Amino acid sequence: MAVWSRILLAGSALALLAACGPKDTPPPPEEKGFAAVDTARIETASAGAEWLTYGGTYDEQRHSSLDAVNKDNVDQLGVAWTFDLATNRGVEVTPIVVDGVMFVTSAWSVVYALDAKTGELLWEHDPDVDRAVGVNACCDVVNRGVAVYDGKIYVGVIDGRLQALDAKTGDLVWEKVTVDQSKPYTITGAPRVVNGKVLIGNGGAELGVRGYISAYDAETGDKIWRFYTVPNPQKQPDGEASDAAFEQVGNATWGDEGAWVTDGGGGTVWDSIVYDEVNDQIIFGVGNGSPWNRTFRDPSGGDNLFLSSIVAVDADTGEYKWHFQTTPGDNWDYTATQTIILADLPLGPDGASRRVAMQAPKNGFFYVIDAATGEFISGDAFGPMNWATGLDENGRPIEIAAARYGKEPYQQLPGPLGAHNWHPMAYNPDLALAYIPAQEIPQAYAEDPLFFSKDTAWNTGADFAAGVPPIAPPEVAKFLRSTLKGRLIAWDPVARAPRWTVEHDNAWNGGVLSTAGGLVFQGKLNGHFVAYDAATGDVLWDYNVKSGAGAGPGTYMIDGEQYVTIATGWGSAFALAAGFAYDDKVPSTVGKVVTFKLGGTGEIADADLTPIDRTPKAEPFGTDAQLAEGVVDFSRNCAVCHGPLAVSSGVLPDLRWSAISADPEAWKGIVLEGHYSANGMVSFAEYLSEDDVEAIRAYVLAQAHAATAAEDGGE
Ligand code: HEC
Repeated sequence: MAVWSRILLAGSALALLAACGPKDTPPPPEEKGFAAVDTARIETASAGAEWLTYGGTYDEQRHSSLDAVNKDNVDQLGVAWTFDLATNRGVEVTPIVVDGVMFVTSAWSVVYALDAKTGELLWEHDPDVDRAVGVNACCDVVNRGVAVYDGKIYVGVIDGRLQALDAKTGDLVWEKVTVDQSKPYTITGAPRVVNGKVLIGNGGAELGVRGYISAYDAETGDKIWRFYTVPNPQKQPDGEASDAAFEQVGNATWGDEGAWVTDGGGGTVWDSIVYDEVNDQIIFGVGNGSPWNRTFRDPSGGDNLFLSSIVAVDADTGEYKWHFQTTPGDNWDYTATQTIILADLPLGPDGASRRVAMQAPKNGFFYVIDAATGEFISGDAFGPMNWATGLDENGRPIEIAAARYGKEPYQQLPGPLGAHNWHPMAYNPDLALAYIPAQEIPQAYAEDPLFFSKDTAWNTGADFAAGVPPIAPPEVAKFLRSTLKGRLIAWDPVARAPRWTVEHDNAWNGGVLSTAGGLVFQGKLNGHFVAYDAATGDVLWDYNVKSGAGAGPGTYMIDGEQYVTIATGWGSAFALAAGFAYDDKVPSTVGKVVTFKLGGTGEIADADLTPIDRTPKAEPFGTDAQLAEGVVDFSRNCAVCHGPLAVSSGVLPDLRWSAISADPEAWKGIVLEGHYSANGMVSFAEYLSEDDVEAIRAYVLAQAHAATAAEDGGE
């Protein structure tokens, strides 16, 4: 055993003595070995001194039993240490803390083991991902964290591998390719480990894949079961755990034709996976349809199970138990992958306790369903929406007809980024409140007129150029900015209403941590990491972490001191795709782990930002027809990474100010010949002609000149 780990073990044993209440008494690590986590230890640890699984506990409540940091002293929190995650891309990780060591991931699925008390680096593991796979990542090359089990660390790699690492050294123990790597699958979610099985899903439904969740043997990496969420194109058995489910309920909800037959249908399981120990089942959230637009996906108009559903399967065999579909016949990228929380609520007969699953998916309804059966208990809108007027007695949405858009754009709330996205929700069982990181990001949905004639990597069937003028004056960006809102809602699932709400000044705010100290922690992308009074929403502490604070915070205890930690960074789907949402106060571009304790006196270093020369690099050119072509090609192919209207938030180059925009040959070399593919900018020759690419350049320069011509010189 390495020297450091012996020192840490001694330290953490002390911490356990100091910290363990009656609820959390994990076995002393020296008896079982380092990171000797098993299902029983995760079940009993109860998010106390340690943080052993993604959501804190198997119930994924993200509620810590620690109260050393509380309402009375939270204003004394200061920085204990920081650790540089060496990335300018998105950071979404929730740290795992076990036996005094913190395990975090950075962009490109890099894993770090840190001394949780000092932040000192113990080891680093880089899976060496080919950067060209970045084009498959709808929502940045992020990773939400690892799982720990029996001396090993498990990480899902962005290119579809699942790796098991030695927890002490970071050495690779085994590796499995969990996807067909010729298809645009990615993994961003954290694995969960239950009774010796590693559970992992994947993403890729924006680009065209068939979703599933798999269980692998934690020791050997052998596949044990797989559950597909969409039938195979022939509706034949796959020889997998999902076969019976499709025979019983799934196949009949799909027609025999449509883009799903060739494009996989979607339904990726990219985030929420919960172990329900009471019913010995895995409950997971299923993503959107592929393509989004059901008219193209499945013209027969079926419900398309198990898209946008919460599904429960037997933990050992993956055999189907029940499902609840939040958005039948998904048409809008309304994933049901968002945080699923298990809790006991007084919703049984005569107020008896009933075990429920709660979710606030993208579609804007807060659901409470029975954990044992999937029976719908209640569902209520937690924000403004204009796609449905409510739910019927079975929980089926009562749709507004126009929301099933055609050629005319329908301006809709929620949009594809959801009324709530991946940012983890939390639940305080003492106050019976769920804390939802909610938002308003509208979208003009319209049918893509080029769906059948001009291919793109993103395969949604929705027109990303709908309503975008060929040369957009800066007022357009300002108007879009004005439509964005965010809020933290303390939702009472029994009263079915908010108890309090905090309004934020922008969308895409951070994940939530609840603690027995009566606190709720949430960050914002503008760098503010805030502690609220869990009962009232009053601000008790507000710290500038100098970077985007979107990830799920965590907490743990070592040597009698409670630590609060958050990983920061700049990127993820919103920062890539919504540059117009930010003014010039763009936070630092360097990802960090920032860890606090009472009386901490550390400092967060300022980022070393090279100022961008915000001037157009060439004269504008192009006919009206060329600019019209440019806006369409840019919006369909480039906007998801370089920003709509060609306004970037600074994660990836703002093409308006790129020197390359002045040189048609260099531009072509990158966009058609893939000269930068080693940096993640692949060739688009499969989708675009030389003329298209020149039209995009004309459009980008037009946007640059429109921005500088405006009075304030900004966008
Ligand atoms: C999946 C995300 C993604 C998409 C989609 C994308 N790019 Fe890129 N682009 C990148 C990355 C990553 C870089 C490289 C950044 C670096 O070098 O650090 C880049 C760099 C560039 C550069 C070089 C800019 C400079 O000044 O160095 C150009 C030009 C460019 N992209 C044009 C385009 C065009 C045109 C499209 C649409 C046809 C497009 N990109 C679509 C990710 C993307």
